[in-house]
Amino acid sequence: MLTKLSILNLSWPLNQAEIFDRARPLIVEIGFGNGDYLIDLAEANADHNIIGLEISSQSMDKAEAKIERRGLSNVRPIHSRAETALAHLLEPESVAAFHINYPDPWFKKRHHRRRLIKRDTVDLMTSRLTAGGVLHLATDISDYAEYAHEFLADTPGLSNQFDRPWVNELKGRFHTKYEEKGYRQGRSGHFFQYRRNAHPVSHPPPIKELEMPHLFLRSPLSAAEIVERFEASRSEAGGAHIAVLRAYVNPKRNVAIFEVVVDEPSIEQRGVIALSPRPEPEEYIVKLTGIGHARPTYGMHRAVEAVGGWVAGLDDGARVLERKLRD
Ligand SMILES: C[S@@+](CC[C@H](N)C(=O)[O-])C[C@H]1O[C@@H](n2cnc3c(N)ncnc32)[C@H](O)[C@@H]1O
Repeated sequence: MLTKLSILNLSWPLNQAEIFDRARPLIVEIGFGNGDYLIDLAEANADHNIIGLEISSQSMDKAEAKIERRGLSNVRPIHSRAETALAHLLEPESVAAFHINYPDPWFKKRHHRRRLIKRDTVDLMTSRLTAGGVLHLATDISDYAEYAHEFLADTPGLSNQFDRPWVNELKGRFHTKYEEKGYRQGRSGHFFQYRRNAHPVSHPPPIKELEMPHLFLRSPLSAAEIVERFEASRSEAGGAHIAVLRAYVNPKRNVAIFEVVVDEPSIEQRGVIALSPRPEPEEYIVKLTGIGHARPTYGMHRAVEAVGGWVAGLDDGARVLERKLRD
């Protein structure tokens, strides 16, 4: 069986040797749905490695089963938001082509933050394309096409391959599931192709993980007394939004754990932070645990700080002794 790949269990940035039999130029499909287009890409481009990025676990399972049945070694689906993979996994000038088919079907004003085609995502895709690499986009929503056209035409690092904003027919194109549905319901595709040109663009390096965050504190309170005083809280630090949602105690071991959700511009993660006793009396370590496979990002460092700071503020005799945190 294929090992399930996720943004949380891969090296940052991507090491092709970890997931492919050998390194090849890379093609990335974003939001591959039922995986048929992804498989067609793999079969039509045997000299490339293909990565599919998806947020739906069901789509992941379907694509994995299809890839396994066909015995393809040059294609791997990765469970990840595209935005997260662009920021943490993919290096500048490493992708020969991006394919995005029928993104954001819920295209509405209020979903702007979640929309795939937006300034920072398009800029990152442009940075990740190799010289001459191509961004392929298809949509059947005409408002989306107008919107995407404005964005892409306004990206100096990309050049339109057509003499019009988009074309409504592409010979030899493999039809995706959504595409077929659109045709059946009388909607046609709008196809975009933009090539990376020689215009210089900025290349934000892939965001690496940090060391595991922890801090030491002294408190006369037991873990049970700490959890008794717990109230869910939300805070913001350096662009990271931290929600400390729940706390649990194991009174026998004098251990408390805190469930956190950390929302950073590039990644949203759930994590568990543990407060456990040290050998010294009244001393604790507060640290991010491996539960849920949260990666030690800047936001996770802020979450450990938030939990530790809250505990240290509960009693006059409590204080933080040492912080092993990145500022
Ligand atoms: C409308 S479906 C299109 C599926 C497929 N491309 C097709 O044409 O049949 C959009 C797909 O994008 C995925 N998706 C949405 N936002 C995403 C994101 N930010 N990163 C990765 N995948 C995403 C969804 O889970 C869904 O499978």
